[in-house]
Order: sequence, then C-alpha cells, then structure tokens
Amino acid sequence: MADERDPLHVAGEVLATRKAGAYRLLTIAAPGIPQRFRAGNFVAVSVQGGRLARRSLWIHRVKEAGAFGPTLDVVVHPTGPGTTWLAGLPVGAAIEVTGPLGRPFALPREPVACVLVGEGHGAAPMFPLAERLRERGCAVSLVVSAPDESRLLSALEARRSARSVTVITGDGSVGVRGDVAGEIHGVLERTDADVVYAAGSHATLRAVAAAAEQRGAWSQVGLETPLPCGTGLCHGCPVPVISEDGVSRLVRACVDGPVVRGDRVDWEALA
Ligand code: FES
Repeated sequence: MADERDPLHVAGEVLATRKAGAYRLLTIAAPGIPQRFRAGNFVAVSVQGGRLARRSLWIHRVKEAGAFGPTLDVVVHPTGPGTTWLAGLPVGAAIEVTGPLGRPFALPREPVACVLVGEGHGAAPMFPLAERLRERGCAVSLVVSAPDESRLLSALEARRSARSVTVITGDGSVGVRGDVAGEIHGVLERTDADVVYAAGSHATLRAVAAAAEQRGAWSQVGLETPLPCGTGLCHGCPVPVISEDGVSRLVRACVDGPVVRGDRVDWEALA
C-alpha cells in the first residue's frame, strides 16, 4: 500500500518565475507533492525532456492557497546547462517533478533555542524550517550568508522569519564581511543555541558542526552533493557517515540524507 510519505512522480507546470539576484525562483504546480513536504525535502526535476537527466532542487516554500491548490517554490542557481535550462523556463512550461525526496530536518520535541544557517541557495530550506520551529515555540535565529549580495537568498524575508538575523557576505556588500566559519561561534554564544541546522558548502557545514559540538549543541546538516537520480537507484551520491560502532560507512545522500547529523559526517573522508 502506498505510504503518504512516498515520493510522487507528477506532471508539473511552471506557474510563475522570478529573478532573485543570481537565482531564479520557480513556483510550480506539482499535484500532491506540497501536501507531503517537510522542511529539508527536495524535488528532482527532469531537464530538457530528460535528455540531461534531472536536477535536485531544495523546496523553498509551500504556498497553501491558490487556484492550482498548494504550490512549491524552488530555487534554481543557473551554473550549468541543466540549471540554465530550468532557469529559462517560461510560465506555463510543463515539467516532470519527483518528490518530496530525502530525509528532512528532525524537529526538537521541546521549544528550544535554534540557530539556522543557510549559505547561498542552501538558505532555501531554512525558511520553511523556521516556520515549523516557530510553530513549536522555538526561539529561531537565522544566519544567511553568501559571497556577495546577489547570492544572498531572501535576506529581507529572513527578518520576518526569525527572532534575530545575521547576514554575512564575503565581500561585505551587505551585513558582516566574512564567512560563517568566522562568525558561527559568536552566534551560538549569543543565542545560547541548543540545536543548529545548516545547509551550504561542505566546508561551511563542517565548521558549523564543529562549533555546535564544541558547545554541546545538536547539529543537523543538509548536504549539497550532486544527486544524479535523487531516488536511491544510481549510487552516485556517496557520503561517508560514522555509525554508532565508530566505523565510517558510505550512505546515499539522496535517501539517507540530504539531512544528517553534523557530528556523524566523516568530514575528513568527505573533503
Ligand atoms: S542520487 Fe542516485 S542514488 Fe543518490
């Protein structure tokens, strides 16, 4: 019998498209997928009729109301032929969507202090996560970072989503000049964080996981790893994770992740 959490493969449609700095935000009708979404899930979208395989995209937002029923917002960073094709899709374009995929962020049972770190388009899943955590009474602090202003995702919206927001850019064009690794200790100290969530580059996630561990906080990281199929079939997304017995084993980022415990990733082997 189909589980309500099983991913769906549906014929979707682009309902809206807008530029957001270096990114393109697509609003997609993908029947049934928004209803199954949990923060940290992603979708796999077929590109160019499947000829260039699929691209995995974080789900940034689920909009509940609309003539098409609940819709999904996804963030596309056009960096290669597939993502450039996706970013160029017009309103009304038909696309095949599979999702929601992946292991989402686990929510704390108690209303604790949480720090959410999103680097570049890795900030996408932090907004729906912030919403869920606030509903549970958690004190949410957001850190959004990018090399420059054009790659900061939804920095303005961040101010509505969290109790405190730290904006970091590599070139200092907005917020603090620097990087997450340099600021995270101060943020965890100021917020007295119990739980830390992060998505972004491996180097940033490693720094966040280490800072959390130093403070005795619990961390979960959303790994950004190429996901050729997104559904567990191709074994093209290995991530080394240290099991309970202390042994490093390869798991599949798309089905065993992309969210994993920060203190469990074998960062040396991943580098
Ligand atoms: S992307 Fe194919 S198995 Fe993970």
